[in-house]
Amino acid sequence: MTPLSDLIAGLISGQGPLTIADYMALALGHPQHGYYMKQVPFGEQGDFITAPEISQMFGELIGLWCADTWTRMGSPPEIALVELGPGRGTLMQDVLRAATALPAFADAVEVHFVETSPVLTGEQRARVPNATWHASVATLPEKPLLLIANEFFDALPIRQFQRTERGWHERCVTLIPQESGGYDFGLQLSPEALANTSMLPLGVLDAPQGAVAEICPAGEAIAETLGNHLARFGGAALTIDYGHGQSAPGDTLQAVRGHDYADPFADPGEADLTAHVDFASLAQAFAKGGAKVWPLTTQGAFLTMLGITERAKRLSAKANPAQARDIKSALERLTAPKEMGTLFKVLTITAPNMAAPAGFDAA
Ligand SMILES: C[S@@+](CC[C@H](N)C(=O)[O-])C[C@H]1O[C@@H](n2cnc3c(N)ncnc32)[C@H](O)[C@@H]1O
Repeated sequence: MTPLSDLIAGLISGQGPLTIADYMALALGHPQHGYYMKQVPFGEQGDFITAPEISQMFGELIGLWCADTWTRMGSPPEIALVELGPGRGTLMQDVLRAATALPAFADAVEVHFVETSPVLTGEQRARVPNATWHASVATLPEKPLLLIANEFFDALPIRQFQRTERGWHERCVTLIPQESGGYDFGLQLSPEALANTSMLPLGVLDAPQGAVAEICPAGEAIAETLGNHLARFGGAALTIDYGHGQSAPGDTLQAVRGHDYADPFADPGEADLTAHVDFASLAQAFAKGGAKVWPLTTQGAFLTMLGITERAKRLSAKANPAQARDIKSALERLTAPKEMGTLFKVLTITAPNMAAPAGFDAA
């Protein structure tokens, strides 16, 4: 048991079971004991590794995408380059290095980070000292933006509902007493069924009894705000994450600790908790805010369209044999269908009247 387990158990004893969203918000974001608040979770020594930590190619190609999109926007003299949940700041560091290929773009950008973790803010400051930090998207500057969110939406709290013969009931986290006198956390359905199912995605409403539906209200609220921002001030956004293109029933809540799957309800605060992104619902939320959403693509197809194969060849030409092996393995990891290439998707969103971004010229 962790200090956070005792705190969550106290809350449940006092006020009853917590929604999974409330449990996730505490496990990830409790100011003292939350997973992201107290440690740097990335890398071989950490719990998991993300695309920008696998290879510099990822951030460099996104940097070139940003420079190209800025040109397609008519090269505005000022643009906010925004990253949501920037982790260690590695992606933005690589983006900015690539941006120097187009000096006018590099001069036009000011970097804004949306981050809640003080530990990770420190890491980001070490790599990108001139950024401006925000606790939420609400305070982003009122100007055109280019926005990147890599593995951000999967870290936001989800709610789960399960279908029974009486309707859809919320799955809540409760205390399961142990014979030894202690407790475990476990799931319990809310006694009342949802009176109104309009919050659930249409694609799950016909699911059979026992099916689980997920929603991510925090993610949808952020997407709607950003969609509105893009519609009012212009710009484009890229969200890259693992998830599914169509809303479908399924329990996708997972915990990862030490590069392995763990029980999401054991030791809150000690493992990363995520859920697959429902890109159909996310796209709807961006569109509701007023932005244009382009067809979903896979990470493999997106990076290939941006020229990752050629970039890997050029880097390998200057590399020693060990480095060349690393570049080949990073390319495989980022793009191969059995690795991140297909599970990870890229959703591109723009201001409604903007020219097509790269990859969609004929769309
Ligand atoms: C899985 S990490 C991804 C890090 C980085 N984008 C990368 O690709 O390496 C999730 C990031 O989102 C941040 N984060 C999580 N919840 C957040 C929230 N509600 N608002 C802002 N940042 C959040 C975390 O602190 C962390 O920086």
